Amino acid sequence: MTGSLLNVLRTEKPILSAPMAGAAGPELVAAVCNAGGYGVIPLWGRSKEQVSSGIDGLRELTDRNFAVNLNLSFAYQEQLEMCIDKAVHGVSLFWGMDPSAIKQAKAGGLIVLVSVGNAQETRTAADAGADVIVAQGWEAGGHVWGQVSTMALIPAVVDAVGIPVVAAGGIADGRGMAAAMMLGASGVWIGTRFLASSEATIHEVYRARILQASETDTQWAHDLYDVGWPDAPHRALFNTTSKAWVDAGCSAPGKRPMENEQIGQRPSGDPIVRYQSYTPLPQTVGDVEAMSLWSGQGVSLVREIMPAADIVDEVYQDAKRHLQMGVSVLR
Ligand SMILES: Cc1cc2nc3c(=O)[nH]c(=O)nc-3n(C[C@H](O)[C@H](O)[C@H](O)COP(=O)(O)O)c2cc1C
Repeated sequence: MTGSLLNVLRTEKPILSAPMAGAAGPELVAAVCNAGGYGVIPLWGRSKEQVSSGIDGLRELTDRNFAVNLNLSFAYQEQLEMCIDKAVHGVSLFWGMDPSAIKQAKAGGLIVLVSVGNAQETRTAADAGADVIVAQGWEAGGHVWGQVSTMALIPAVVDAVGIPVVAAGGIADGRGMAAAMMLGASGVWIGTRFLASSEATIHEVYRARILQASETDTQWAHDLYDVGWPDAPHRALFNTTSKAWVDAGCSAPGKRPMENEQIGQRPSGDPIVRYQSYTPLPQTVGDVEAMSLWSGQGVSLVREIMPAADIVDEVYQDAKRHLQMGVSVLR
């Protein structure tokens, strides 16, 4: 069904850059689109004017198709209406299942990508008219919706519906892409690997940790970085904050070590407190190591900073090679 995915997204390569709030700005998304992939820009949590200017800004960098990522657990109605008014190609909906949002986006003429964590949600999304399913495995970095690992999730989701499924979580190179395609995915949605693209807008301390971390260096937690976004499980690199929290027996919010301590400032000057859900930007100041350094388990495959276009090309060519090799492996 890869052909069908490429037709729906009107793109050349079935590689999507994951929306990563704070980290995946217009430069990264445009670079992926211009390299023949499909970029997804997070514009949730913004005013409708900011959504409008975010779309315009991205359109100045690419004339290719892209999608806008919206978060269903925050107010999204105005942003969705703006996406429809601006006739963006696609909208990506995550952190919730709302058939009415899917139907509204479809009625507005958008291609709708829906993130899921199991087969039941997949059927609900497909029944509401979703065009593409994004199945996010538990290995994923950032906020993690489901609890099933990519290896088990993808075939279950693929078997549940007849629309293209894009695999997310732990895919960081051509081997991962080839494996996902063998499981029935039509394409891949890559996050952590693009944190090491030249275009990602993250702090150098965060980037350095990504380049050194191994597959055992991440922590999944339900309510570690919950300030600003409670009840939302996530995966991030071990750091001084998470180590102190684990040593304290993974204590509940309100009873954690150094709770409410200010550990830095956003570029705007606003304070960042320990346990805040926040992606450190290049201009963030303070104890960056102690902030939420989102990362997936595939981080051990991320060893070099490269232009996003080169990442798209390398992953695509390597996946092709591995899929061709696979034919002879079992002879
Ligand atoms: C820094 C970071 C920020 C993220 N922010 C978002 C977001 O705003 N919206 C979203 O749908 N997913 C977000 N995610 C999850 C990704 O879209 C994707 O599912 C995940 O990165 C895939 O797993 P991988 O990191 O192993 O490639 C984020 C992930 C990371 C690493």
